[in-house]
Amino acid sequence: MSHRSHWSRTRTMLTLAAVLAAPLAALADAERGADVFDENCAECHSVASSLKNKKGPSLFGVAGRNAGKIDGFHYSDALLASGIVWTPDRIDAYVTQPKAVIPGGKMKFDGIADTAERKDLLDFLAEQK
Ligand code: HEC
Repeated sequence: MSHRSHWSRTRTMLTLAAVLAAPLAALADAERGADVFDENCAECHSVASSLKNKKGPSLFGVAGRNAGKIDGFHYSDALLASGIVWTPDRIDAYVTQPKAVIPGGKMKFDGIADTAERKDLLDFLAEQK
């Protein structure tokens, strides 16, 4: 076997490994995100498909949703007037510092300072639909 074809086969294998590893990495992020959710959000939020509300509204399907759309949850006027669409960026900003994104809102949560934790959390939330 020539040196060259050996290298091209190695390169193919490496590419294949990278392609296979990508979804696994996303899964690992979401799994870590589930832990972040349990530690920080689950006291007040459910992600069950039943749209079960706790102290906060259900976060099932929250990614991409307009703010304040869960029936039967009593939102603050500030949140209802916010006009926010919960894109990943907006959720990220909100869980960093809720009061900065919705002044006068009623989510009593100090925020998550760690960027990596928030990223894992967003991966997890994106899958709850
Ligand atoms: C102490 C309870 C509490 C904790 C902890 C909490 N939340 Fe909330 N959350 C609320 C309440 C209450 C609201 C409604 C806020 C309002 O109406 O101003 C809310 C609203 C939200 C909304 C807007 C939903 C909608 O339908 O518009 C998102 C998104 C959200 N929370 C995400 C999170 C995430 C993610 C975490 C964890 C990092 C978290 N919250 C932690 C109580 C909490």
